[in-house]
Amino acid sequence: MIDSSLKTEGIFFSPGGEKRFIEISISPIVFEDKIEGYIFGISDITTRKQLEQELLKFEKFETINRLAGGVAHDLNNLLAVLFNYLSLIKLNISNNKKEDCIKFIQKIENTLNRAKYLSSQLLSLSKEGVPIKEPHDLEELIKDVAEFCFSGTPIKYNIIFQNPVRNILIDPQQMAQVFQNIFINAREAMPDGGKVNIEVSLKKLKHEEIPPLLEGDYVEIKISDTGLGIPPSILPNIFEPFFTTKEEGTGLGLAIAYQIIKKHGGNIIAENNPQGGAIFKIYLPYLIKDEPVEGKKSTPSLEISKKHYRILIIDDEEELRDSLLFLLSEMGYEVDTADNGKEGIEKYYKALKENNPFHVVITDYVLPDIKGDKVVAELKTIDPNAKVILSTGYTGIDVTSNYKNYGFSGILIKPYTFETLIQTIERTLSNS
Ligand SMILES: Nc1ncnc2c1ncn2[C@@H]1O[C@H](COP(=O)(O)OP(=O)(O)OP(=O)(O)O)[C@@H](O)[C@H]1O
Ligand SMILES: [Mg+2]
Repeated sequence: MIDSSLKTEGIFFSPGGEKRFIEISISPIVFEDKIEGYIFGISDITTRKQLEQELLKFEKFETINRLAGGVAHDLNNLLAVLFNYLSLIKLNISNNKKEDCIKFIQKIENTLNRAKYLSSQLLSLSKEGVPIKEPHDLEELIKDVAEFCFSGTPIKYNIIFQNPVRNILIDPQQMAQVFQNIFINAREAMPDGGKVNIEVSLKKLKHEEIPPLLEGDYVEIKISDTGLGIPPSILPNIFEPFFTTKEEGTGLGLAIAYQIIKKHGGNIIAENNPQGGAIFKIYLPYLIKDEPVEGKKSTPSLEISKKHYRILIIDDEEELRDSLLFLLSEMGYEVDTADNGKEGIEKYYKALKENNPFHVVITDYVLPDIKGDKVVAELKTIDPNAKVILSTGYTGIDVTSNYKNYGFSGILIKPYTFETLIQTIERTLSNS
């Protein structure tokens, strides 16, 4: 057999300085199995290239349009709900109806949680959203999400743990999102009710058993439903972003689940049950940490702290700084603020010198002058016992995933709830 032709592309500048794309091809002339010569061809493919680039731009804009449209729509709905409840609170305050106000405030909190969920869904699709892994009880997590997704529906669910998986290294929020997306799909696949089986077991995978996973120990989570199953023709597409067969769907649920599982070093596959219904199998590396898992987090009471602790907040976002100041002062803490890193470090140093030290510092990561990692490094030089909590919305950076290695005692991922804030401060204080 004679080798086939060669083709390559290049850029060429005309004498007038105009950029042209060219294609160079070399093809052998073969006669009776012998190469008798070559044909060299040069063609100007500038127009084709320009069209291809235009198409690529168009496709990119298509994707952005769909995403932006979907997000703006969901966000506007949430904002409309917030405005309505705020108006209701204003009306009811003037009518002195305290009970109703409390009810509406609760509604606002629920709506804000939905907004937070929306932004975390988007983050998991982006380059950001690197998992912040911590040892976690998988059983508790799956039970909580299943309860949340199926209670009050005509769906029965059953969870079987063949082996306890109590301290697996996962990002609990991201994994909760994975299960939520899969359970909601199951719910939508069985509008008239049905059954969901969740089976968790440890598996020793051999090389290429579930490509591209390497040989090793994995946790398999098998989720099967009794819906109509996934039509085989669409099975290869269901993990693609925006692929949906639902009128109201955005087609992001499984794409997000896929991204999260991949970022955890695992894999997810879908198949149909011969007896009917869909099956999703998730594989997660069985990485565990031998340290006690924190129990269920209790909601802190609004009871004002009796102890006298001083907290320093370093953040350049004025509204955030002020709201934290009000909230923590209300809780009985003595709070001071700084709007940049250097000012924060100076305040810490001065307080230490005056024998009136700060017990906890909460610092933003991106500050106008220096970054949060520099803040913690300098504070630790001044006072090796400094307790510094990193507060950030950036999850795609090393300092967020490995905050302890940088000297931080805790982390707060924006936006965080009041409960998380207080728990993180209390945990940091109790580790003193
Ligand atoms: N349990 C299931 N049974 C049958 N089909 C399913 C199941 N789960 C997913 N699918 C199919 O996969 C498609 C993609 O699912 P995905 O969760 O990504 O998007 P969606 O549910 O359509 O929209 P969104 O989750 O964004 O609201 C669905 O539209 C559906 O056709
Ligand atoms: Mg879905």
